Amino acid sequence: MKYVDDITKLFTRFGANTETYQEIQPNYKDFKDDPITPVLPKPEPSVVLPPPTSTPTPAAFLPDEPQPSLLIGAPRFPLLTEPPANSGTGDRQRLSDLLRELNQVRRDGLPETTRKRTKAKVIAIVSANGGVGKSTVAAGLAKTLRRPGGRTIAIDLDPQNALSSHLGITRQVPGLIQLKEQDADWGAHRLPGFSDSECLPFGTGEMDDRHLLRQLMLEDSDWLNQHLASMNLSENDTVILDTPSGATVYSQQALDTADLVLVMTVADAASYLALDTMTQWLETTRRRGQRHRYVLNQRDDSRTFSRDMGVLFVRRLGADLIGTIRLDHQFNESLAYGRDLLQYAPESIGCHDILSLSGAVHALLFADTCSQQGTP
Ligand SMILES: Nc1ncnc2c1ncn2[C@@H]1O[C@H](COP(=O)(O)OP(=O)(O)O)[C@@H](O)[C@H]1O
Ligand SMILES: [Mg+2]
Repeated sequence: MKYVDDITKLFTRFGANTETYQEIQPNYKDFKDDPITPVLPKPEPSVVLPPPTSTPTPAAFLPDEPQPSLLIGAPRFPLLTEPPANSGTGDRQRLSDLLRELNQVRRDGLPETTRKRTKAKVIAIVSANGGVGKSTVAAGLAKTLRRPGGRTIAIDLDPQNALSSHLGITRQVPGLIQLKEQDADWGAHRLPGFSDSECLPFGTGEMDDRHLLRQLMLEDSDWLNQHLASMNLSENDTVILDTPSGATVYSQQALDTADLVLVMTVADAASYLALDTMTQWLETTRRRGQRHRYVLNQRDDSRTFSRDMGVLFVRRLGADLIGTIRLDHQFNESLAYGRDLLQYAPESIGCHDILSLSGAVHALLFADTCSQQGTP
């Protein structure tokens, strides 16, 4: 199309005609630019110490700050590459992140075998979204997954502190909040739960206590691993780690410690859409030889949509989907009345599905040992 035609069309669209069109030739001769002194970047010292100040050092994460549901995919210390514009606060933040990264690099530089590890098998239950049944499944496995001569201990890494209720424990007792220091004896504080399970709750405490625990875990990425190692568990014991939703410091430490990670999903769009981000996060694990498997929860067979979503999950995850738990209101009722579903409604579909998941996990984790012992 010709240039003149273009102009004519444009004018017509605005209800004018080209008669009024005048072309103005700009004159650049008399134009003077403002003289600007170029600002040269100052050479950066290797570590910039923060100026002395009376304001308290801000925590890298505040105890109850709203968290993105997943920090997945981002580098672990994003501030190193993107320092905040704010000078004073930014420098302090940056320094603590730099020091933390140095610690991390130092630890990561060690071959994994030199770090003392628990002999027990460790299973972490994680999810991208909340309310998908992590604690329900953690408790279900704690009650049903038992090796001969071994014990199963469920540890609550979720500040919601709900796991102990799923196992019928109502007493307020010391939990991780109180037992955060490395010399604390976790073994001595395990509580008996339903069906011979044992539980170490997250515990309750003041904001400051929770803040301290979180800070400790942020500063020492080996915190959980060391505590588990100090429990002196045997190869017949099993540890189940319940975590909060998303990539929090708690779930990250669980991820870095576990032999098997079970990702909980439900048959809905949000869980399906989160699968990619979840995979990216799982790849950040420091644990070699770790296995990742998926569990689909709350499939409602009375609804076409839920069944369809179930089919999509099966197609997408294939053999990595090792269990499906159907919607069963007995879960909720058992929790509300403080009952053990296994004892109270052993014929329920929820009970059936938990047992079947437990069988799949057992086969996956203990297959080698079973075949050595001649167990089918
Ligand atoms: N398969 C299921 N059918 C019905 N209710 C379920 C099922 N799984 C879990 N629930 C209920 O859903 C709620 C959230 O479960 P919970 O295990 O606390 O989730 P999360 O730990 O992921 O936040 C609880 O009330 C629980 O009883
Ligand atoms: Mg929970």
